[in-house]
Amino acid sequence: MEEVSAEINFFLLVIAGTMGMLSLVLLVYIYKKKVLTEKARLQELKNAYQKEMLQASIEAQEQERRRIAEDLHDDVGAMLSLVRLNASRASEKARDRTLKDSTEEIKALIDEIILNVKRISRDLLPSTLNEFGLIEAIKELSDKINNTSPHLIKFNYLKFEEPIDKEIELALFRIAQELINNAIKHASATEILIDLEIADDIVKLTVEDNGQGFSINKVDGGKNAAKGLGLKNIRSRVSMLDGTLEYKSSLSKGTFAQVKISKEQSSEKKVLA
Ligand SMILES: Nc1ncnc2c1ncn2[C@@H]1O[C@H](COP(=O)(O)OP(=O)(O)OP(=O)(O)O)[C@@H](O)[C@H]1O
Ligand SMILES: [Mg+2]
Repeated sequence: MEEVSAEINFFLLVIAGTMGMLSLVLLVYIYKKKVLTEKARLQELKNAYQKEMLQASIEAQEQERRRIAEDLHDDVGAMLSLVRLNASRASEKARDRTLKDSTEEIKALIDEIILNVKRISRDLLPSTLNEFGLIEAIKELSDKINNTSPHLIKFNYLKFEEPIDKEIELALFRIAQELINNAIKHASATEILIDLEIADDIVKLTVEDNGQGFSINKVDGGKNAAKGLGLKNIRSRVSMLDGTLEYKSSLSKGTFAQVKISKEQSSEKKVLA
C-alpha cells in the first residue's frame, strides 16, 4: 500500500514538475513574443518618424526653392530691369561712339542675365508642372536641353488617361531633373533616354544614359557618400511615396534608373501631404 502511494506521489511530482517546466517555457515564450511585438512596434514608430522627417525635409526644400524662385523673380529680376532701363537711357544719351558701344554691350549682357535668372527661377519652380502636368514639364525640360545640345535627350511617354497625384508628379519631376543633371554633369553621355508610362496603376519613370557610369558602392559607402545630395534625395522621395528604385551603373556602359510609384496613394498619406 505504502509502495503504491509512494509511486502515486512520485507520479504526481513528475506531473507537477512537468507542468512547472511547461509553464516556465510558456512564460518565456510569452515574454519573448511580447518583446518581439514591442520591438516591431518600436521599429514601426521609428519608420513612421523617419518618413515624417523625410517628408518635412523635402517639403522644406520645396519651400526654400519656391522662396528663392520668387525672390529671384521679384527682387533680382525687377532690379535687373531697372538697370537695363538706365543702361538704355545712357546709351541713348551717349555721344561718344566708344561709350555708346560699351553701354550697348552692357544692355546685351543684362538681357542675357535676365534670361538666365528667368531660367533658374523656372527650374526652381516648375510652373509648367502645375499648369500642364508631368509630361509637359519633362518635355519642356528636355526641349530646353536639346536646344543647346541637340538630340541629347529622347523622351518617350504614353499619355495618361487620368491625372496623377500632384505630389507624385512633383517627386517624379524632381527625380527626372536630378537624373538628367547627373547624366550631363558626371557621365559625359551622348544619349539620355527618358521613358514615362503608367501600367496597372503604377507610374514608371526610367532615365538611362550611355555615359561613363560609376561604381554605386563607392558612392554609397565611400568618401563621396556625404557630398552629393542628389541620389539621397531621390531615395527619400521614392521611399516617402512607398515606391521602388532600381539603380544600376556600369563603368563605360552608362547608368540606368527606374522609379515605380503606385498611382493610388493611401488616404492617410494624402492627409500627411
Ligand atoms: N549618371 C551618372 N553617371 C556617372 N556618374 C554618376 C551619375 N550619377 C551619379 N554619378 C556619381 O555619383 C555621385 C553622387 O551623385 P549625386 O547626385 O548624389 O551627387 P552630385 O551630383 O555629386 O551632387 P548634387 O546632386 O548634390 O549636386 C556623383 O558625384 C558622381 O560621381
Ligand atoms: Mg547630382
